[in-house]
Amino acid sequence: MQTLLLQNTDQDIACAGEILRRGGLVAIPTETVYGLAANALDGAAVARIFVAKGRPQDNPLIVHISDISQWRPLVRDIPDSAMALAKAYWPGPLTIILPKSDIIPDEVSAGLDTVAVRFPSMRTTRRIIDAAGVPLAAPSANLSGSPSPTCARHTMDDMRGRIDAVLDGGDCNFGVESTVVTLATEVPRLLRPGAVTPEELRDVLGRLEIDEAVMGKLKEGVKAASPGMKYRHYSPKAEVTIVKSTLEAFCRFTEQVRDKSEVFALCFDGEQNTIPLSCVTYGREDDPLTQSHRLFTALRELDERGAKTVYARCPSTEGVGMAVYNRLLRAAGFHVVIL
Ligand code: TXA
Ligand code: MG
Repeated sequence: MQTLLLQNTDQDIACAGEILRRGGLVAIPTETVYGLAANALDGAAVARIFVAKGRPQDNPLIVHISDISQWRPLVRDIPDSAMALAKAYWPGPLTIILPKSDIIPDEVSAGLDTVAVRFPSMRTTRRIIDAAGVPLAAPSANLSGSPSPTCARHTMDDMRGRIDAVLDGGDCNFGVESTVVTLATEVPRLLRPGAVTPEELRDVLGRLEIDEAVMGKLKEGVKAASPGMKYRHYSPKAEVTIVKSTLEAFCRFTEQVRDKSEVFALCFDGEQNTIPLSCVTYGREDDPLTQSHRLFTALRELDERGAKTVYARCPSTEGVGMAVYNRLLRAAGFHVVIL
């Protein structure tokens, strides 16, 4: 299959809408990461997403809408708490899970009785949904297990030959996937941290539990509330270890590495001259938004440069930092050393 590269023009957006309407797959930009979209109401089209990504069948998809009025038909009911969240943070990088209505195909919900819905803020994304005329199911547009793509080139690297088209809308603003919160439990529960922080959710909801899988590894035999959180994820090919320490201790630790040829540091801006390894940077130490914007690009760059072993400086877990740490922890296969 030849994969078209579409541009952010009226004509190409109409073309993307046409492909999606007839059951095809188009990778689309959003403010978080690129998504691999299909008509959410067409089970056969959605099934093709799983094939293109190599995604496990038990991992449900997020449904994207371009107007809040499109939400009601997708769910059984919209409680006041859900509407309050939507009013506060939609359109934006927040996904809300509620019990699903009958029009959601099983392929989208992967057998669960709930559906995840997101109203993206990026104008191009909303224009593509409007052009398709249907809500769009879209996971991140990476091959299953790889870091999510945050630009059209990374999307093409993973999806060339597997889907109908990629629409280039430039770099993603946030660079990590949306915050996922479920309101289908008794107490609202954060399943995946993102740019909308736990504090911001608590401001609206009052109560919020943080799922165990957010900051650690699920124990054997525990069922994942968000199936996507149980897989090794966001991984470059290298072995990544998070090193929780001061910069000085990090330097002493990496000093001791004997053969430094394929060993890299994943560090903060400005630390390249101090750390005695080849370095890839992922943002400013005191600014989690720069880190979220660059983390996945940095992980892909490590692969491109042939890194075999990576020692990563540990981000703060405050605010948006929780999302950065959550992704880095999965990229590291939960491997953390504390100095
Ligand atoms: O920012 C984003 O959310 C991006 C862009 C494209 O919108 N999408 C994205 O989708 O990250 P994906 O499929 O890579 O991640 C969706 C996560 C997975 O961890 C999945 O298990 C979880 O949301 N999820 C989806 N529906 C769910 C449901 N009904 N119940 C629990 N978890 C759900
Ligand atoms: Mg994903």
